[in-house]
Amino acid sequence: MDYIPTFLLTLLLIGEAAEGIDTMNTTHSIRDGDTIVSAEGTYVLGFFSPGKSKNRYVGIWYGTIPVITVVWVANRETPLNDSSGVFRLTNEGSLVLLDHDRSWIWSSNPSRPTTNPAAQLLDSGNLVVKEKGDGSLENPLWQSFEHPTDTLLPEMKLGRNKITGMDWNMTSWKSPDDPSRGNFTCILVPHGCSEVLLMDNSKVRHRSGPWNGVRYSGTPYLRQNPLYTYEFVSNEKEIFFREHLVNKSTHWRIVITHDGENHNFVWIESTQSWLLYEIGNTDNCGRYALCGANGICSIHNSPICDCLKGFVPNNSRDWNKMDWSKGCVRKTPLNCSGDGFQKLSKAKLPEIKSSWINSSMNLEECKNKCLRNCSCTAYSNLDIRNGGSGCLLWFGDLIDIRILSENDQDVYIRMAASDLDNGDFLKVHTKSKVKRRIIVSTALSTAILFLVLALVLYVWKRKQQKNGALQRNPHKKDNLDLPLFDLGTVARATNNFSVENKLGEGGFGPVYKGTLRDGREIAVKRLSNNSRQGVDEFKNEVKCIVKLQHQNLVKLLGCCIEGDETMLIYEFLPNKSLNFFIFDNCAGETKDRLLDWPTRYNIINGIARGLLYLHQDSRLRVIHRDLKASNILLDYELKPKISDFGLARSFVGNEIEANTNKVAGTYGYISPEYANHGVYSLKSDVFSFGVLVIEIVSGNRNRGFCHPDHSLNLLGHAWRLFQEGRPIELVSESIIEAFNRSQVLRSIHVALLCVQENREDRPNMSYVVLMLGNEDALPRPKHPGFFIERDATEESLPKQSKPLSENECSISLLDAR
Ligand SMILES: *[C@@H]1O[C@H](CO)[C@@H](O)[C@H](O)[C@H]1NC(C)=O
Ligand SMILES: *[C@@H]1O[C@H](CO)[C@@H](O)[C@H](O)[C@H]1NC(C)=O
Ligand SMILES: *[C@@H]1O[C@H](CO)[C@@H](O)[C@H](O)[C@H]1NC(C)=O
Ligand SMILES: *[C@@H]1O[C@H](CO)[C@@H](O)[C@H](O)[C@H]1NC(C)=O
Ligand SMILES: *[C@@H]1O[C@H](CO)[C@@H](O)[C@H](O)[C@H]1NC(C)=O
Ligand SMILES: *[C@@H]1O[C@H](CO)[C@@H](O)[C@H](O)[C@H]1NC(C)=O
Ligand SMILES: *[C@@H]1O[C@H](CO)[C@@H](O)[C@H](O)[C@H]1NC(C)=O
Ligand SMILES: *[C@@H]1O[C@H](CO)[C@@H](O)[C@H](O)[C@H]1NC(C)=O
Ligand SMILES: *[C@@H]1O[C@H](CO)[C@@H](O)[C@H](O)[C@H]1NC(C)=O
Repeated sequence: MDYIPTFLLTLLLIGEAAEGIDTMNTTHSIRDGDTIVSAEGTYVLGFFSPGKSKNRYVGIWYGTIPVITVVWVANRETPLNDSSGVFRLTNEGSLVLLDHDRSWIWSSNPSRPTTNPAAQLLDSGNLVVKEKGDGSLENPLWQSFEHPTDTLLPEMKLGRNKITGMDWNMTSWKSPDDPSRGNFTCILVPHGCSEVLLMDNSKVRHRSGPWNGVRYSGTPYLRQNPLYTYEFVSNEKEIFFREHLVNKSTHWRIVITHDGENHNFVWIESTQSWLLYEIGNTDNCGRYALCGANGICSIHNSPICDCLKGFVPNNSRDWNKMDWSKGCVRKTPLNCSGDGFQKLSKAKLPEIKSSWINSSMNLEECKNKCLRNCSCTAYSNLDIRNGGSGCLLWFGDLIDIRILSENDQDVYIRMAASDLDNGDFLKVHTKSKVKRRIIVSTALSTAILFLVLALVLYVWKRKQQKNGALQRNPHKKDNLDLPLFDLGTVARATNNFSVENKLGEGGFGPVYKGTLRDGREIAVKRLSNNSRQGVDEFKNEVKCIVKLQHQNLVKLLGCCIEGDETMLIYEFLPNKSLNFFIFDNCAGETKDRLLDWPTRYNIINGIARGLLYLHQDSRLRVIHRDLKASNILLDYELKPKISDFGLARSFVGNEIEANTNKVAGTYGYISPEYANHGVYSLKSDVFSFGVLVIEIVSGNRNRGFCHPDHSLNLLGHAWRLFQEGRPIELVSESIIEAFNRSQVLRSIHVALLCVQENREDRPNMSYVVLMLGNEDALPRPKHPGFFIERDATEESLPKQSKPLSENECSISLLDAR
């Protein structure tokens, strides 16, 4: 039998039933093909077959979305094999599903006896059984929201009813074709300052970190959020986490997918598709206890695991082979009486299995409490609001710590006095190097900077080579996923690196165009020797970057390593970079190549999607760090592709997410916190993106912009026009004839949100994509960073922030393309 048409039929029936009913009574049953629809048509209940399956299930899905998206399933373990099923409400208040024999294959248990029940499908997606005529939503006899399957809808609780002992947890489907219980469960640990765990059978796969009064400590994305608010409630009756929508007409859902990901989706009207808004366990550091006991994970380090300060690898041979599972052990055992504490900032707090809490202690009392117990290994505030309060103690090994630059929480780790030093962990806050280095006057600074950079690179390279030598024996198998080109092939393809084939010269060496024997065109970046790192290290990085594939990213095809030569091979893009197309005031960039508004708008959206992929959809969580018009290449169809991503990791080196004393980036695009303090994060890329959007709309460069009426830079100019209610005057002359006013206004508005001075205020890229994609009201931007300076020339920028310049130190390799 072919059920697919039946399924479409179900869809057709939605229309018919729409004016119909949202309630079921004891005399009215639902047969396969019938549906009930919530009052405003938001949700539908009926029979369906998932994916390629022919089995029939009773479930709830969205009524207003053309993509069938099931949010709840009744008989997930007991499918029907034909269309003879009947769903009905018994006189006792049970919902039952009958098969062709009229035997019950699924039923619900009402919480108390009744004589006159009715069931209703609400516009929240909740199927509720209550006494007929009972208008209140309190204490229903039964509700589907208390029996989640794999989806958490707004208003649904994840947690536990302490009175009945009932758990509200989510369990993945087995596969897209089979809604029966899969291997993955999401639960809320129902004690103390609880946390959310994603389990693979009985093993923890990902943890959210404990609740800190504002959010879970490992979920920085749960922050200023335009879509939903959230709460954590713990009282005598229940303990739960739940989200509420800001705009009730948004479609929002959290799903535990069959392969164990925690995905948060929002429906985008304009594209009629689901946008993956957030991923719970974002990246490799999200993997539970990846670095073992007393290890610490930093996604922007390479390798990502390190030992906590005062600890050394438990088994250094395995550790160096990147098997971190045995963790780290103390250099010096604790002696109990003379110990001290080392502060670790920006941490996701360790697992709280064996912890102790007191919500009224202050930090000092907490520290003393910890000191008094010889097995206490760490303490921190329980609640970070209002300067912090409460006490949380850990005993024994510290598991699953990571650095998250977005976090503001400190944890204090116990350490033998001899292992203490006065700084923080991992040099996270040593800005002093940057500062010291930067206090140099104009003319000298560039030269000295070069020396310093060269030295840093040299020292670093030496270190890498040493590490490389100590480290992994690359297995043959590893090399399978690393496409290697041999030098002969590349030389032939580029006509022996001839001058005619040279496309340009970037910060790390020249770029050549080449044609392979099979006719494929390639771009070859020939890395100069001084930028080279250890071979294994380099291969490892390339392997990671090769895996980053998205239609808005330039594709890395592979690399070539032979003797002294190190090269990266990219797909070749025929058009030049975006800067040749958008700026209409530059010599040599002729007007006839300028782009019309629809193309510009597509480019803005494409860049946003590419960046979103780098930031969250890929497992690496790549910060680009040098996003600018010359790093956006255009293909035959003028689709944008971001280039030079992932290189900051390998070329600027081994450093902590939050701070760096090696600088990459380009004036005009870098965020104030990066320029002034060397602090970079995903939000630095958001800033650069905002600048880029304003450049695309206005046709002007941020750097070097000048206006007869004032001395603001382009951002300041845009901000001023926006404030004065005439942002449209920003629009480039070359598109002034024909542009979509609301798209332009939206682009400018979103860009101004991206360039806000305070990085906390800037949206993340998923919100940017969302804002560009729909018509909802937008928040009001605060003033941008770096808008007073006339332009980013030497005099106008604060003195400390002068490590960069447009070309010299940019890490861009395709600069000149
Ligand atoms: C049950 O529902 C059906 C359809 O809505 C309706 O025709 C019927 O009168 C209802 N029966 C009772 C007892 O309310
Ligand atoms: C469905 O299953 C029942 C018993 O499990 C069997 O008797 C019946 O033939 C099956 N129907 C189909 C269409 O496979
Ligand atoms: C999830 O909830 C169900 C139903 O309450 C329960 O049987 C199951 O043990 C829970 N799973 C976990 C991992 O706690
Ligand atoms: C669930 O886990 C078991 C045991 O680890 C494995 O054999 C099975 O393939 C997994 N099932 C799915 C759907 O991933
Ligand atoms: C150190 O390694 C041994 C086995 O090699 C293991 O039993 C022990 O638990 C490890 N220590 C820690 C702190 O993980
Ligand atoms: C513990 O260490 C402190 C400081 O190093 C020292 O003064 C004290 O004597 C030590 N206590 C014991 C019991 O070893
Ligand atoms: C928590 O700490 C406060 C202040 O030290 C103390 O009065 C209270 O008894 C403690 N509560 C528990 C449960 O230990
Ligand atoms: C230290 O704390 C642990 C865990 O709470 C507890 O079992 C132990 O009795 C405490 N020891 C002392 C000396 O207070
Ligand atoms: C809520 O969303 C709808 C549909 O997207 C939109 O029409 C409406 O203006 C929004 N309401 C607010 C307050 O933003």
